[in-house]
Amino acid sequence: MTDPIASHWGAADIHERILDAMRASGLSAGTATIEQLAPVDHIHARGFAATKELADSLPIRSGDRIVDIGCGIGGPARYLADRFGCHVEGIDISEPFVDAGNRLSEMTRMRDRVTIRYGDGQKLPYADESFDGGYAQHVTMNVPDRDRFFAEAFRVLRPGAFFALTEHGLGAAGTPHHPLPWSEDGAGAYLLPPEQTVALLGAVGFQMIEVVETGIDYLQGYRKMISLMDNGALPPLGVHIILGPAASEKIRNAARNIEEFRTRPVRIMCRKPQ
Ligand SMILES: C[S@@+](CC[C@H](N)C(=O)[O-])C[C@H]1O[C@@H](n2cnc3c(N)ncnc32)[C@H](O)[C@@H]1O
Repeated sequence: MTDPIASHWGAADIHERILDAMRASGLSAGTATIEQLAPVDHIHARGFAATKELADSLPIRSGDRIVDIGCGIGGPARYLADRFGCHVEGIDISEPFVDAGNRLSEMTRMRDRVTIRYGDGQKLPYADESFDGGYAQHVTMNVPDRDRFFAEAFRVLRPGAFFALTEHGLGAAGTPHHPLPWSEDGAGAYLLPPEQTVALLGAVGFQMIEVVETGIDYLQGYRKMISLMDNGALPPLGVHIILGPAASEKIRNAARNIEEFRTRPVRIMCRKPQ
């Protein structure tokens, strides 16, 4: 049986949709660059800008092996691999995303530095202590067993490695409006208050846990997108083609939930002890 979270994210024709939008934008698959794909392949609030900010805070060295858990179609993985000269192993529960992600890496000539495979972050197919760092951008909203998800991340990291996380936590007012990018009606959504997430990270052994509130920045990003939608000015290539027909409603609800303190977006950074 197909995992409902996998089916929520990974429409079978996702690669075709991206190719169509590239054509409509005058981009050629033969010469596509990481920068040209950035409007569509960073599938989280504020897209590429948020990945860049995350990357600015990551202590990655050339040659490091990094794991991207819930990597989507691989935009962040390709960006980090290119920027730092590291190797990124991506894993995602949606098979169409895995397929599209590897094809986009091929297209941008990054296949030797970014490997994307199918799998569940709650049961990682990697040996203990195999990575110098790891991250999960906007994935945990869909993860029912965070204990396990965090314990698995901890297991595959070497001592001293970093683990970074971005997500929409549950806000003080609770009960978010749906549909949202990660759930049509609340099914498959497992938001937790950030304090609880921090406690779970600590319980599996992570230390030096730092939380940055990202709600204001997200809100600005969503408002920019809402203004483009209202003016019929969305470019053909954008994450809306991944969010599907309800994209507009999902973005508006994501903004409204932050405004009403129903969600509380955060970026979290921590370390596995030496
Ligand atoms: C909002 S998208 C983010 C994708 C990517 N991290 C990015 O920032 O571009 C969420 C992704 O998490 C994946 N996902 C959800 N639950 C997962 C799990 N348990 N294990 C692996 N991937 C998962 C989904 O398939 C989807 O690709």
